Amino acid sequence: MIFDIFRKKIDPNGTLEVLKTDIHSHLIPKVDDGSHSYDFSIKSIRRMAELGYSKICLTPHFQSYKFKNDEDDILERAEKLRQVIAENNIKMELIVGGEYLVDSGFRKRLETNRFLKMNNQYLLIEFSFNQAILGINELVFELQKMGHEVILAHPERYIYFYEHPEIPKQLKDQGVYFQSNITSFTGFYSKRTIVECNKYIANGWTDFLGTDIHNSIYLEALVKACQDRKFRKILDTYQFLNNTI
Ligand SMILES: [Fe+2]
Repeated sequence: MIFDIFRKKIDPNGTLEVLKTDIHSHLIPKVDDGSHSYDFSIKSIRRMAELGYSKICLTPHFQSYKFKNDEDDILERAEKLRQVIAENNIKMELIVGGEYLVDSGFRKRLETNRFLKMNNQYLLIEFSFNQAILGINELVFELQKMGHEVILAHPERYIYFYEHPEIPKQLKDQGVYFQSNITSFTGFYSKRTIVECNKYIANGWTDFLGTDIHNSIYLEALVKACQDRKFRKILDTYQFLNNTI
């Protein structure tokens, strides 16, 4: 039963309080493939407060074809969600960013330089999962030159990184921050993501953790991951930048 996830008691030793802030979520209703209703967003945000989060960065997809979101519209919707959350007496700070897909239309964004960034500082980007992007190092360099601090979302999920470890290595050398998904550590996407996450952690490359929450299935996987012994050890052993946001 999917909705049991909202009732299950959270283990007080299995929270994410140490992180304080979730930097990757899809909780603005009906703007992408994430939350489909205010009801789901309310329940999820309440659940995330129980998990120990006190701040969530809303990062809807910005893509040139599938999710053509507009920054001003997203800011308005985020404000509406803030009101709804306050009306429901949930204590959670909501800040706004975006998850920008580097696709064939991405270069146009550089011309307008209009991005929603976390704390007006960090720009969250993602790549195609299956296909390497030509000229990515130059593009990242350009973004950084413009003053954007670039975070790459879930590096453990890009299939071509597995055969080409030099790609993430070069990005790291360029000063790109890496954000792994918490549920990747427990194999929510694939078993391979566990290997990749552990490799990045061992290299000291994982700067942030995120939920990347889209729906109830993600939420359930998140609650489970919080209770996973190996993930708890990582949380206890390593420091992440989430709580600086
Ligand atoms: Fe995402």
